[in-house]
Amino acid sequence: MKKILVTGALGQIGSELVEALRERYGADSVVASDIKMLPASDVDGPFEFVDCTKLHQVREAVNRHQIDTIFHLAALLSAVGEEKPQVAWDVNMGGIYKVLEVARQSGCAVFFPSSIAAFGPTTPAVATPQDTIQRPTTIYGVTKVSGELLCDYYWQRFGVDTRGVRFPGLISHVAKPGGGTTDYAVEIFYEAIRNRRYRCGLGPDTRLDMMYMPDALRAVVEVMEAEPERLTHRNSFNVTAMNFTPEELAAEIRRHIPEFAMEYEINPELQKIADSWPDSIDDREARSQWGWAPEYDLESMTRDMLERLEDKLSHQ
Ligand code: NAD
Ligand code: SER
Repeated sequence: MKKILVTGALGQIGSELVEALRERYGADSVVASDIKMLPASDVDGPFEFVDCTKLHQVREAVNRHQIDTIFHLAALLSAVGEEKPQVAWDVNMGGIYKVLEVARQSGCAVFFPSSIAAFGPTTPAVATPQDTIQRPTTIYGVTKVSGELLCDYYWQRFGVDTRGVRFPGLISHVAKPGGGTTDYAVEIFYEAIRNRRYRCGLGPDTRLDMMYMPDALRAVVEVMEAEPERLTHRNSFNVTAMNFTPEELAAEIRRHIPEFAMEYEINPELQKIADSWPDSIDDREARSQWGWAPEYDLESMTRDMLERLEDKLSHQ
C-alpha cells in the first residue's frame, strides 16, 4: 500500500482509520474523502470531495493521487437504511460497484466492510459460522451480502485484490455512530457520563456481538496486509471481540458509576432489525487465516471508554 483513498472518511470508522493509516503509511499517503466537507481548520492531510456513486469522481481522485488501495467506507447504516431504502441501495450498491470498476481499471486493491447485518433470521443465531445461510431482511443487509459477492466476483473474474470483514457493532469515542442499530452501545456512555441515566431503544436481553474501535482499526490493517496465499476466504471474514446485552453493558458501567440508571423504551423498528441478526458469530477463520485476535473485552473497553469520554466531555 503506497497511496490510499478512504471513502466515507468523516464517519465513525473513517474519523479514526484515516489517522491510523497516516501514522502507519505516512501522512501524505492517505487521501480522505467524503460528501461532507471539513472546516478548513480541521484539514490536516489530503482531502477530496468524492461522491462514491459518481464513477468519474472516484476515478479522478484515484488518478490525481495515483491511488493503489481504496478503503471503501461510504454507506448508509441499518437504521437509516430502513428509513430510506432506495437511497441505501443507491449509495451502498452504487458505491461499491463504482469503486470496484475504478479499482479494476486502475489496478487498486479494495477493502470492503461488511457486517453482522449480512446475516438474517434463518441464519444459525449462535456461533454463526463463516459460511452459512445469508438471507438478511434489511436493505442494509441485502447490500452487504451483495457487496460481499460482488467483491468476490471482482477478485475471481478480474483479479482485483478485494478483502473484507464482517464487523459487529463498533464502539468508539471520537465520532458518533451514523445511524445503526448498535448505536445504543455508544450513546449509553455519553448519557452515563452526562446524565447518569440512559433510555435504551433495544430490549434488555438483546444479545449482539460488539468490538472496540482500536481492535476494528487493527482488523482492517491486518486483513489488508495478510499474505494472500493464506487467504481461502476474502469477502468477508467474521470478526468479533465481545458479546453482551444492554443489561450486561449497563451492569458493567455501574461498576464505575454506581448510580447509573437504565430505562427501556423499545423502538420496534430497531428491535426487529437486532432480532434478525446473530446473537454471536464465530471468527475462527479470521483467526487462523490472518491471525485475528481482539485485545479489548467488555471490561477493558468500558473502562477505556469512560476514561476517554470523561476527558473529552470535560473539555467541551
Ligand atoms: P458512518 O455512517 O459513520 O459514516 C459513513 C460516511 O459515509 C459518512 O461520513 C457519510 O457522509 C459518508 N457518505 C454517505 N454517502 C456517501 C456518498 N454517496 N459518497 C461518499 N461518502 C458518503 O459509517 P461508519 O460507521 O463509519 O461505517 C463505515 C462502513 O463500515 C460502512 O460501510 C458500514 O456499513 C460498515 N460497518 C460499520 C459498523 C459500525 O458499527 N460502525 C459495523 C459494521 C460495518
Ligand atoms: N453497527 C452497524 C449497524 O447497526 C452494523 O453494521 O447498522
